[in-house]
Amino acid sequence: MTLPTTHMRTIIIPAAGKGTRMLPATQVTAKELLPVYDRPVIQFAIDEAIHAGADRIIVVVSDSKPAIREFLGDTAIASTGASTATEIVYVTQADAMGLGHAVLCCKGMTLPGPFGIILPDDIIVGGSCMSEMAGHYHAGQMIAAMKVPVADTSKYGIFSFRGTTNDICIPVNGIVEKPTLGQAPSSVAAVGRYILQPMVFDILGQTPKGAGGEVQLTDAIAIATRSLPLTAFQFSGTRYDCGSLDGLLAAANARQASLKAVRMDAPLSIVRPSVRPYVGSQTQSPDPDQPFCEPVSRAF
Ligand code: G1P
Repeated sequence: MTLPTTHMRTIIIPAAGKGTRMLPATQVTAKELLPVYDRPVIQFAIDEAIHAGADRIIVVVSDSKPAIREFLGDTAIASTGASTATEIVYVTQADAMGLGHAVLCCKGMTLPGPFGIILPDDIIVGGSCMSEMAGHYHAGQMIAAMKVPVADTSKYGIFSFRGTTNDICIPVNGIVEKPTLGQAPSSVAAVGRYILQPMVFDILGQTPKGAGGEVQLTDAIAIATRSLPLTAFQFSGTRYDCGSLDGLLAAANARQASLKAVRMDAPLSIVRPSVRPYVGSQTQSPDPDQPFCEPVSRAF
């Protein structure tokens, strides 16, 4: 069978960051393994990659965080406990040189066609963002997008647009990584979901260090826009920044609320036998596939 050239078969999950914003919680534990109520942060990315139909997940790790590999193994397992045909391969990022460098470490490991990236810190609930993007993707580059307070624009990659639009897919003029306050071209930020073309690997290999002295994925994407159109995608779900303590707590609270709602909605005769106590490593939710927040829609 010949797959369409727009079919995304590989998803990269960069997980080699040091988690310095969350010390001492991340002193010996990878931030990707911190719990969001009942499951680790990285499991959300794995579930989303499985849902989007990935054949291969590439996890970028550092030698100082071997537990990520121990937890995930070599074949993706959904949080329902169901095994899948999705293989997990690992690549080590020896030096913390930024997100762009982490993605560059995967050069030559992606399957043919466009590839996806899920930043595990960005948990999106209430709709599988990567599946939504894959459903709308036709060509070029696509990044999930969200409006943020103007005061926060210096924390993100920020898009510039030709005009305003309420479409789900919005053509983008350019993107700039962490602009200084007052210099942001809009208040619409990149969120950690990307669909990119392999040519970005070649660009990354020549991209100089940018914001924060790191090789920035955003900079390579901006260069690629000279030959590839870039689309900002308005996703339907709610995003939590689980690379921050407050975001992690908010996600955990939402997760807890959704599990309780699922249990209250379900008939007792079904719930009682299937609910296991929320302790120990064998714990599973009654319905882990149930999105745990109502989808919200935003207009830029
Ligand atoms: C990264 C990207 C940035 C994006 C953000 C979303 O930044 O470089 O463009 O807006 O993720 O979470 P980081 O959070 O790693 O600094």
